[in-house]
Amino acid sequence: MDLSQPLDPLAKTALWTASMRAREHRRADRLFSDPLAEAFAGDEGPRIMSQFEGHVQSGVEDPALAVRTRFLDDQLLRLDADGVRQFVFVAVGMDSRAFRLEWSPGVLVYELDRPALLSFKEDLVRDLHAPATAVRVPLGVDLLGDWTEPLLAAGFDPQQPTCWLVEGLLYFLEPRERDVLLRQLTDLSAAKSRLLADYVGQAILDSPGMAAWRERMADQGHPWKSGSDRPEELFAPLGWEVHVSAYGDPDADYGRWSDAAVAPGLSGTRGRYLVIADKQ
Ligand SMILES: C[S@@+](CC[C@H](N)C(=O)[O-])C[C@H]1O[C@@H](n2cnc3c(N)ncnc32)[C@H](O)[C@@H]1O
Repeated sequence: MDLSQPLDPLAKTALWTASMRAREHRRADRLFSDPLAEAFAGDEGPRIMSQFEGHVQSGVEDPALAVRTRFLDDQLLRLDADGVRQFVFVAVGMDSRAFRLEWSPGVLVYELDRPALLSFKEDLVRDLHAPATAVRVPLGVDLLGDWTEPLLAAGFDPQQPTCWLVEGLLYFLEPRERDVLLRQLTDLSAAKSRLLADYVGQAILDSPGMAAWRERMADQGHPWKSGSDRPEELFAPLGWEVHVSAYGDPDADYGRWSDAAVAPGLSGTRGRYLVIADKQ
């Protein structure tokens, strides 16, 4: 049975990122462990992964996913240690952090994504008998529609500090859609909330080295639609205090980025970003 059948093209990119985590998990020098990733990626994930990496440069692994996963893992666990108990994984896809990280008792993780993706994930979770390590609340929503009411109805407490994880999503949104989403997140964020995200630079997105790759992404039904060369400027006007790391910066390298040679437009250390934003 092809379980990935009901997934739309954009949802299928979640199988691709799961496949990259599965590959990282198999490395002796892995930056994190993700025992569920292979099952979460299914047969479709490795197929999409090879299609896109092969298109960029044959035989070269893009280290970005491994670096971003580890960077975000470290941030999430730091927040847990600081006492944050409410986490929202926005566009969670096949992320298995609610199963693989050691959360403190009382941590609640809301997992938001399209209903079809989440029901596909729930079937797998059930078949794998995978126990969650936090209280997990999957919530099928359209992030371009009204998702805040269902989140509140599910028990989300806007008075409590929240950690928002927005990973692997922003570049799939038009600038206006991105800005609406960030405004919605902000309106639900109490003081001492933190937002974690990854993003891409607009200049690198528009560079000739990216053109063929972007075209292929669009042909497959999941185009990258936006970026920003100054991600700070997206968050700061909403009242967030922002720290932006570029991949390859000392805090976003993990010994992997120096070897990165991914594509003409992507091999530099600037151009892809990890964002930490704090609400005072
Ligand atoms: C590249 S995957 C990233 C998944 C996960 N965060 C990760 O990093 O592996 C993109 C995810 O965004 C979700 N997504 C995109 N647009 C969405 C929307 N309008 N509403 C809900 N989910 C959406 C897709 O279903 C998919 O799971």
